[in-house]
Amino acid sequence: MRHEIDVFSSSISFNEQDVRNKTVVVIDVLRACSTIQTALENGAAGIIPLAENDDAGRYTRYLDPGSVLLCGEKDGKKVEGYQLGNSPLEFTGEAVSGKTILLKTSNGTRAITRSISASDILVGSFLNLSAVVDVLKSDDVLKSDKGKEILLICSGWNSRLSIEDMLCAGAITHRLYESRLPDDAADGVKVAYGLYEKFGAEIPALMRECNHAKRLRELGYEEDIAYCSQVDLFASVPGLRDGVLSIR
Ligand code: MLT
Repeated sequence: MRHEIDVFSSSISFNEQDVRNKTVVVIDVLRACSTIQTALENGAAGIIPLAENDDAGRYTRYLDPGSVLLCGEKDGKKVEGYQLGNSPLEFTGEAVSGKTILLKTSNGTRAITRSISASDILVGSFLNLSAVVDVLKSDDVLKSDKGKEILLICSGWNSRLSIEDMLCAGAITHRLYESRLPDDAADGVKVAYGLYEKFGAEIPALMRECNHAKRLRELGYEEDIAYCSQVDLFASVPGLRDGVLSIR
């Protein structure tokens, strides 16, 4: 059965056929999508999301070393030899302005690169919630032939659901449906929407308690949790074009 909007629960919960010619919003609140948003807002020239089996050298050998930053995490920790990890707070204007960023993360960039057959790939988080909703509501996405179906892909954590991503998907569906959930909505939408109805007024509290926040806290990234809980800090939406993420 075809639904206008659907929600997927992890970076590997969909295949190439599921996303083909759809409008996809990849959500990774903690932290890849919040980091991408922050880096672009702070002047990064573009972000190349790397797939899990990508060799960064494939790209760096063609790029001016002075203009490239290799960034990313494994198990939440900065990869040895990379210049930055995946904490949004590292991606200051001073660090990233004018740079092309190669970013490899466990689930977020995997979800983006696995969505490559979509007609549009947008990057969503709480930081740009309203901007994402505005783009999805706009004529060019909802009414054009190419973008009739919207898939919200929650990146999750190592094939598991992450509640903060599902909550963000719920916030998006709540706004798209203007607080009137249709009876025939997809099951994934009902779950996300229901979660947001229950916890939408307590985003920072729910984020502090989620599984990944506990992992990040143990790694010393406490500040990232509060930072990524902020709603509408920014009013732009990153999108993927020719393999590079930039502000649309
Ligand atoms: C991911 O892609 O799984 C995350 O962004 C992990 C992280 O918090 O660094």
